[in-house]
Parts: sequence; C-alpha cells; structure tokens
Amino acid sequence: MLDKVHKLISEVKDFKTTSKDEIEAFRIKYLGSKGLLKGLFAEFKNVDAELRKDFGQALNKLKNSAEDKVSELSKLISNSAETKSNYGDLTRPAEPIELGARHPISIVKNQIIDVFSRIGFNISEGPEIEDDWHNFTALNLPEYHPARDMQDTFFVEKSSQVEKDMLLRTHTSSVQIRYMENNKPPIRTISPGRVFRNEDISARSHCIFHQVEGLYIDTDVSFADLKQTLIYFTKEMFGKSKIRLRPSYFPFTEPSAEVDIYWGLKTETDYKITKGTGWLEIMGCGMVDPNVLKNTNIDSEKYSGFAFGMGIERIAMLLYQIPDIRMLFENDIRFLEQFKSVI
Ligand code: DAH
Repeated sequence: MLDKVHKLISEVKDFKTTSKDEIEAFRIKYLGSKGLLKGLFAEFKNVDAELRKDFGQALNKLKNSAEDKVSELSKLISNSAETKSNYGDLTRPAEPIELGARHPISIVKNQIIDVFSRIGFNISEGPEIEDDWHNFTALNLPEYHPARDMQDTFFVEKSSQVEKDMLLRTHTSSVQIRYMENNKPPIRTISPGRVFRNEDISARSHCIFHQVEGLYIDTDVSFADLKQTLIYFTKEMFGKSKIRLRPSYFPFTEPSAEVDIYWGLKTETDYKITKGTGWLEIMGCGMVDPNVLKNTNIDSEKYSGFAFGMGIERIAMLLYQIPDIRMLFENDIRFLEQFKSVI
C-alpha cells in the first residue's frame, strides 16, 4: 500500500502539460471528490497500526504535491497566454509618432496662392522644360535681344539638333504665354513653379528656385488696378501695406516697375536685410506689353492687363529669417523640423 502511494508521488512529480484540460483532468484524478486521494484516505483505517504513521505522512505528501502541481502548471499557462496575446504588453510605453513638416517653400507658396485666390485668381501650371517661344520670343524677347543675357539659360537641346530650342524655363512668365494661348479674357491667374538659371550657387542665389507669376487681362485694366492689387497682397502676406514702385525694364511689360515694400528698421535684422534703407525689393511687375497680347492672339485694342513675378525663396528667407538659400535645398531634417508648427 505504501509502495503504491510512493509510486503516485513520483508520478505526480513527473507530470507535465501545457493544456488547461489536462491540468483539470489531473486535478480531478487526484484531488476530486471521487479522486485517488479520497479513496486512499478511506483505506487509512485498514492499514496496520504500526504502518499508519508512515502511510499518513506519505498520503499528506501526495496531497500536497498534487495541489502544488496544479497551481504551478496553471500559473505557467496563464503567463504564456498573456505574452502570446494580440495586444502584446499593454503596459509598455508608447512609441512616439513622428509628424512631418511642410517645406518652407510649400508653406509660402500656399500662402501666396491663398491670398490671390481670395480675389478671384486661379492657378495655372506649365512645363519646366520649355521651348524658346514660350520662354523668350513670345514674351517680346526675340533672338539676339540683349535682355536674354539677364537670364543665363540651361539649354537642353539647341536648334541644330531639333526643330526648336528646348531649355529649362528661366522664369514662370512662360506660363503666361501658355495660358493666354489657351484661354480668352477675362484672365486672372497665378502660376507657381520651379525655374532654372545657370548661376553660381551662393548664400543668396541658386541655380534652381521658385517663382509665382501673376497675370490679369480684361477690358480697361489700368496701372491703378495693378497698384491696388499689390497693396492688397503685401498687406495680406506681410501685414505691411507701404510700397513703392521703382521704374524698371522688362521686355514683356510696358511700363515696368520693381516693387519695394517698407519693411522698417526696428531690429538689427531689419537693417541687415534692407541694407540700412528699410526698403526691400519683392517683385517685378508692369502692364502687359501689347506685343505679348498680339503674340497670343489677344486683341490689344480691346484688352489690357498687368503681370507680376516674384521669387518664393526670397520671401521665405525674409519671413523665416533664413540666412542662406542653400538651406532650402539641402533637406537637412534639423532645418525642416523647425516648420512643424506652421500649416
Ligand atoms: N520674369 C521676371 C523675372 O524672372 C519677373 C517678372 C517681372 C515677371 C515683371 C513679370 C513681370 O510678369 O511683369 O525676373
């Protein structure tokens, strides 16, 4: 009898399982109300008096080891079930979510679009690889015109190889021509885009940059309309409406002007960026030359209009105090991250 109990003790010791059902079956077999232990305890009275002590101790040992086994195995499977759960460890600290930022060029471009769309301008686009007609000739810059030198051009193919010169557009004024060729007045459009010039890269200039072109064509458009539009723009964009128009020259506008805004001389940076004058040049503009209207088959007797063009980098550098234009092209995350808070 005692041997039987010892055998059961070592069976209990060796028992292993990862199944919940098997643990339960084990528990019922040993500790259940009709289990082995119950039967053995019932036999206690039949055991010889001198053996009772050993038998009793052995039975208690069996009972304890069966109980321990059940709780040990149950604990094991409940732990492993937790780690296998779909949610993983729910107490683990969350991983940070990295938010991107808009590029300052996009931020400024969107602001300019926003300001002009409020007064009825739509957005137009044209190709970056352009032909000579749209970039120069139609804009009143015929071949050998000296003003072509103002814009050092990257040529893609010269006319010896192809029918017409192909080049990287030097300004977004080319989109004016495309828009006028394809649309009838009244026209109110702005054309943001990338432009290219064969220039040395420095802190102030780059061979790639961005412009926004504006064009307004209708009956009875006057220089006063242009000026009022510019005042509206500078007020909305910079919160400053004091501007001055300096006579200038562009082949595609007559008369032409350069627009300066009064930036002020409050801070040291104001002195620096305005070279101590308080005035800052922000764009070129003028009344569309009748030759340009003729080149795009718009009746120059009936219609007139104004145009303007501005550089986005220059404005971004101004608004965000960026000291070097190259920072806008290097995509250094430490620089770009700083625009997270701007929409
Ligand atoms: N296209 C000129 C440039 O790149 C900017 C410009 C000046 C555009 C006067 C215009 C304008 O439409 O009227 O420097």
